[in-house]
Amino acid sequence: MNANAATSPNFDHLFRERKPFGAAVSARGLVRSFDNKDVLRGLDLYVPAGQFLAIVGRSGCGKSTLLRLLADLDTPDAGAVLLDDGLDRRANTRVMFQEPRLLPWGSVLANVEVGLGAAGKAPGGRERARETLKAVGLGDRGDEWPAVLSGGQKQRVALARALVSRPRFLALDEPLGALDALTRIEMQQLLERVWLKERFTAILVTHDVAEALTLADRVVMIDEGRISLDLDIALPRPRRRGSVDLAVLEERILSQLLREDANAPDYVI
Ligand SMILES: Nc1ncnc2c1ncn2[C@@H]1O[C@H](COP(=O)(O)OP(=O)(O)OP(=O)(O)O)[C@@H](O)[C@H]1O
Ligand SMILES: [Mg+2]
Repeated sequence: MNANAATSPNFDHLFRERKPFGAAVSARGLVRSFDNKDVLRGLDLYVPAGQFLAIVGRSGCGKSTLLRLLADLDTPDAGAVLLDDGLDRRANTRVMFQEPRLLPWGSVLANVEVGLGAAGKAPGGRERARETLKAVGLGDRGDEWPAVLSGGQKQRVALARALVSRPRFLALDEPLGALDALTRIEMQQLLERVWLKERFTAILVTHDVAEALTLADRVVMIDEGRISLDLDIALPRPRRRGSVDLAVLEERILSQLLREDANAPDYVI
């Protein structure tokens, strides 16, 4: 018997039972330049409702630039981004970064409530914040200051703050990049759990190809301002680290990344 099967929860039923709550994100012809350097050159991307998409690519290829445009934190020079049903992007999108960006003068609970905006004052706001804090495993830490938390715990608070308003689109820019290897794996599992429960559309920028393959339904790679690889990851969840299937896909993505690197201009020292 497979030891993993006995210890790992099986999430498949969640897929079947829950209707996606996420909103589809579509980007058409995105162009973004800085100082006459074209970073995105007419990029098209459609992310169906509830999909978990990972974006990979060499450092500086434009991953964060793209995510900022998708999340309405920046405006394209040409092209457009839409959420389906004409939903307002600001109201329905939350972003999580590598740094937790917590307010040092607010309690942990108050930091989560920030994610509710004005709705935090409405009846039930505090209760919702408490529930969300519990969902990230910090139900008993609400009254403490952020300064006493570990790096991983601070990122959990940042995740709770991002999720408390039940966004339909969650944009994640290397949110686990600063964590140690074990905490990172625990956070990946947490992220997968909450995504399976809430079924928001998730777009994760990551340097870590193994992380992309563990979490995502689909991996896209950016090169030369466009999508250079678009791969569906049709493996059952939860995925087993070190499995042959994941290793084969990882090799394929890494070899393309390295090929693209070889084509990059030489650095002059
Ligand atoms: N506000 C800005 N002003 C000027 N140049 C910028 C700005 N934002 C991004 N760039 C440039 O655009 C390019 C892409 O940057 P971006 O941050 O999107 O890369 P990235 O793929 O996220 O890289 P990394 O993996 O290192 O985070 C880089 O050359 C960067 O210097
Ligand atoms: Mg970046």
